[in-house]
Amino acid sequence: MIIGIPKEIMPNENRVAALPENVVKYREMGYDLIVETNAGVGINIFDDDYKSAGAEIAESAREVYEKSDVILKVKEPYFDEKNNINEIDMLKEGQTIVTFLHPAAPSNHDMVRTLRDKNITAFTMDGIPRISRAQRMDALTSMSTITGYKAVLIAANNFPKFIPMIGTSIGMIRPANILVIGTGVVGLQAVATAKRMGGTVKAMDIRPDARKEAESLGVKTAGFEVPPELAIGEGGYAKSLPAECLAKEHDALNEIISDIDIVILSALIPGEVAPVLITAEMINKMKPGSVVVDVSIDQGGNCALTQPGCETSVNGVYICGIKNIPGSVPVHSSWMYANNMYHYIANLFKNGSGSFDMDDEIVLKSIVTHNGKIFHKGALKAMSEA
Ligand code: NAI
Repeated sequence: MIIGIPKEIMPNENRVAALPENVVKYREMGYDLIVETNAGVGINIFDDDYKSAGAEIAESAREVYEKSDVILKVKEPYFDEKNNINEIDMLKEGQTIVTFLHPAAPSNHDMVRTLRDKNITAFTMDGIPRISRAQRMDALTSMSTITGYKAVLIAANNFPKFIPMIGTSIGMIRPANILVIGTGVVGLQAVATAKRMGGTVKAMDIRPDARKEAESLGVKTAGFEVPPELAIGEGGYAKSLPAECLAKEHDALNEIISDIDIVILSALIPGEVAPVLITAEMINKMKPGSVVVDVSIDQGGNCALTQPGCETSVNGVYICGIKNIPGSVPVHSSWMYANNMYHYIANLFKNGSGSFDMDDEIVLKSIVTHNGKIFHKGALKAMSEA
């Protein structure tokens, strides 16, 4: 079986799906590797490093797609301007792709349908369940850790004030009020980073466990709670709130939003479209100079006004919809992702062949398309609602 590693083509994407250390391990498992020239150049890993690890270097993406059985990537297929072709058009019938696909996001539905129609077997790294057996494959947790940290740095860079309390000869500067909504992996890292920067931090989550974890970092919760049976679904994950609860959450946010300087949005129901928590009305209530960093944008965003992939300003409120935050810390995010990917592949193709076990929970939750069918529950649900 030949594993292909194309160079990522999204603007400013320097991550790569396999490092030379992973090439060595894949070769030990009996696979051959073909890596596109300059795939690792953004993290200072060069073709010779891959060659020394035992990979063949391909001169173009087309060659990688042409020769490989399995393509490992970081981001979903994207339009390759250099070669004037969408990566999805380079995939061949029967080929396998493993990457982040975010299949529930409305902007990716056509892509999922194309994967199905081309009879591609596609696995999404964001489908891997957060169970203990899958911890070493959990690329979402890895990327979320980086995102929570970097989201606060983005906020600080776009906030026209200090974040910590600063004593000056002309008086005291008050610390920034920071609200983190959704204290899963991203949110907890954001809370910890915002606290370290000296902000006055509050957290909001619908799961009691998530609120407790935020409180254990020394912050107060923002006062909104729902009965646990309405917030917690299968496996302890959050589930979609009924409309009346979401309306109460909006009311709670409407009450406090004008006092908040920075909002970090990272609320998510796994595999579904992100709930809209910050409305246009709330943005209008925020003070000019306030900042909203909406990291849930791959799932549609938690703020009604976030523009996917863009930084915008509405009534002086900076709204960040940058999609690829982990890509801005490429060395550590590549190292984490490539190792998560290696453990995922080792589990997926246990017998060293291209076959996999659909009864394995990890496979079942991460498979998106196979044999001309869509399997991903969140994508199917979102498509039926669209
Ligand atoms: P997670 O599943 O660990 O946490 C999400 C949290 O949101 C959970 O604690 C859940 O209880 C909470 N939540 C759900 N509905 C809520 C509501 N109505 N109100 C308040 N809280 C609610 O997810 P994780 O890993 O922390 O990721 C969060 C988001 O960040 C996701 O949308 C993810 O795709 C995104 N992300 C974005 C990146 C980027 O580059 N923009 C990179 C990594 C993650």
